[in-house]
Amino acid sequence: MVETHLERASSEPATGGQPWPDRSVIPSVWSRITNLEVERGEGAWLITRDGQRYLDYSSGIGVTNTGHAHPRVAAAIAAQAAKLIHGQQNIVYHEPGLRLHERLQHVLPGDGWGAFLSNSGAEAIEASVKLARIATGRPVIIGFRGGYHGRTAQTMALTTAKDVYRGHFEPLPGSVYHTAYPYCYRAPGASHDPAACTCDWEAQLELTFHQIIYPEHVAAIIIEPVLGEGGYIVPPPGFLPRLREITREHGIMLIADEVQTGYGRTGRFFAVEHWGVEPDILVMAKGIASGLPLSGLLAKRDLLAKWPPGTHGGTYGGNVVSCAAANATLDIIADEHLVENAADRGAQFLAGLRGLARKHPAIGDVRGLGLMLALEFVQPGVGDGRTPDPNLAKRVLSEALDRHLIVLSAGTYANVARIIPPLVTTAAEVDQAISILDQSITAAGA
Ligand SMILES: Cc1ncc(COP(=O)(O)O)c(C=O)c1O
Repeated sequence: MVETHLERASSEPATGGQPWPDRSVIPSVWSRITNLEVERGEGAWLITRDGQRYLDYSSGIGVTNTGHAHPRVAAAIAAQAAKLIHGQQNIVYHEPGLRLHERLQHVLPGDGWGAFLSNSGAEAIEASVKLARIATGRPVIIGFRGGYHGRTAQTMALTTAKDVYRGHFEPLPGSVYHTAYPYCYRAPGASHDPAACTCDWEAQLELTFHQIIYPEHVAAIIIEPVLGEGGYIVPPPGFLPRLREITREHGIMLIADEVQTGYGRTGRFFAVEHWGVEPDILVMAKGIASGLPLSGLLAKRDLLAKWPPGTHGGTYGGNVVSCAAANATLDIIADEHLVENAADRGAQFLAGLRGLARKHPAIGDVRGLGLMLALEFVQPGVGDGRTPDPNLAKRVLSEALDRHLIVLSAGTYANVARIIPPLVTTAAEVDQAISILDQSITAAGA
């Protein structure tokens, strides 16, 4: 007997509705870390179509800082969508966009900031490169080894976190060079305490200026204040302030890529604030609109004014519904004290992870800033004790998923578990996650 559409539908779980199309409709270029079929989310939790609850400590790769489907964000989106969904930036003004631009003038310390809005992190990085080049009249951009800035042509050229992001796509746009990032755990010779850093990043940058490119030809140096995809590496205390001095000495712009570190993630609204560093351009995305596509850059208004009309833009930049979501996001971050919660829950989590490292020798390093946390897995007793163990990291992630905790991997060798909870997460949820990680590391055979 041929099964009818209705019969098939009625055999679906109550929440499932019609049978879902086969997964093969999605191309395999979308690598995937779970097979969860998710129907909804609330706070730090994702709920599958069969009603299973998962603690989402991926935050959809650092996006859902206000938690999943925050009622105030959902209401702002619904109300705006009922009025106007697209009010194109080159054609009209709309209140949510004007309001957001106005508010973004005050999210960084100091006066004179302005914002340019676009859709994705990569698109905003592209914009920052164009702005730095047009403002300085210089061609070259320097990035850091291990950095991640996106997957478009220009941002691929800047990205060196992993070969998979760029290795098949040469030739990439030129006049982009890379220098060493201070990765204290993997410093040549031996690990050291970041507080007493002996990494030679400054000498390497000097060498770059002597061997590869004159500093007076460099438009900008782009830096993630905490390295993201590259392994959640927190730099030593003196690094960013010294980099700011060097860039100023040479008239080079400093671009802070805060796509992942921004919007409260590290326990400050932007991570550069931990070191009192003022970049020339700050790039933001991910947490800005709680999940609607929106990104942008901040720069002083006199710098933005050097961008002649029409030299940059895009159909959807500053979309009105995304701006409404972004305004609601700013309200929630303030009203629910999410930046403070990120700092508090981050300290709680870091202490818990340090406890796990004392118990499990396969944890080579524990690091983090706010709710951007990492465990780096190694093979104890092999080589100098820092040999990466990506297979163990994979097993730990899989065991954690079996226990309904979603965490991601990171790092050039994929041997880092990175933990990115929503900033609304509670102390009880953090304790639950630490306990699940403990069980998962044991179950993974570490
Ligand atoms: C630091 C950083 N920059 C840029 C990007 C690119 O953002 P998008 O994926 O929105 O293009 C990402 C994405 O993960 C990121 O983490």
